[in-house]
Amino acid sequence: MRKKVIAGNWKMNNDLSESQNLISKLISGLSNEKVNCDVIVCPPFTSLSEANSLLKKSIIKLGAQNMYFEENGAFTGEISASMLKNTGCEYVILGHSERRTIFGETDQVINKKIKKALQSNLLPIFCVGESLQERESEVTNDIIKRQITEGLKNISSAEMQKIIIAYEPVWAIGTGKTASPQQAEDVHAFIRGLVKSLYSNEIAEELVIQYGGSVKPDNAKELLSQKDIDGALVGGACLKSESFIEIIKAA
Ligand code: 13P
Repeated sequence: MRKKVIAGNWKMNNDLSESQNLISKLISGLSNEKVNCDVIVCPPFTSLSEANSLLKKSIIKLGAQNMYFEENGAFTGEISASMLKNTGCEYVILGHSERRTIFGETDQVINKKIKKALQSNLLPIFCVGESLQERESEVTNDIIKRQITEGLKNISSAEMQKIIIAYEPVWAIGTGKTASPQQAEDVHAFIRGLVKSLYSNEIAEELVIQYGGSVKPDNAKELLSQKDIDGALVGGACLKSESFIEIIKAA
C-alpha cells in the first residue's frame, strides 16, 4: 500500500520572516490533526537552514527546489547536493517545468541531477509534464515517455525505489485549470506502466506518483482518490497554511 505524499513547492516566495511564519502556522495547525500522509515543504534556498531548525521536532520534512550536479567549484550561483543535505534537506525537486522552460534544463541535465542527488542521499521528486500545445497535438504520452526514459537513464532498480515522480501538466500550473481526475489518472497509469516496463512490476507498484497543477482544497480529494494518484505537488495553495493543511487532510 503506497503512502500518500503531499509536498509544497514554495517557488520564489517567502523571505526569512515569512518562511518562519508559514512554518510555525503549519506546525501548530497540524499538531491536532491525525496526519496519514508524508508532508514535505520546499522553501527557497535562503530559508532552508531556518526551516530545518523549526521543523526539527515536527512531522514535516524538508526539501529544496533545485540543485546542480557538480560536487563543488566554479559554478557561480549554484548549490550542490551536499550543501542541501548539510542544511537538513531530505528531498529535492528536479526537472520542474519552470526549470525546463525558463532556465533551459534538458532531459540530460535533469538525468545528471537525479544521479547526483541519489549519490548524495537526497530523494528526488522528479517532475514531468506536457505543454498545452503538446496535449492538443495528442503527443502527451510520447513527451512523458521521453522525459522519463531520458531522465532515468542508467538509474538502477535500487535507486529507482528512492524516486518520487510528479506529473505536472504545464497547462495546469498556476492557471487555475486543473487536469480532470480522469485526465490525470490516465497519465499516472501510463507512467506506472512505463516504469513497470523499464524496471519491474514491484518497483512500479511501490512508486509514488504525485499530481501537480492547481491543486486546491476543493479538488484535492477527488484527485487523490484516483487509483494511481499518490499525492500532490502543490504550488499556490501551499503558501497559505489553511489551504495546505486542507489538502493534507484530504490525503
Ligand atoms: P500550482 O499549484 O500553483 O499550479 O503549481 C504547481 C506546481 O508547479 C508545483 O510544483
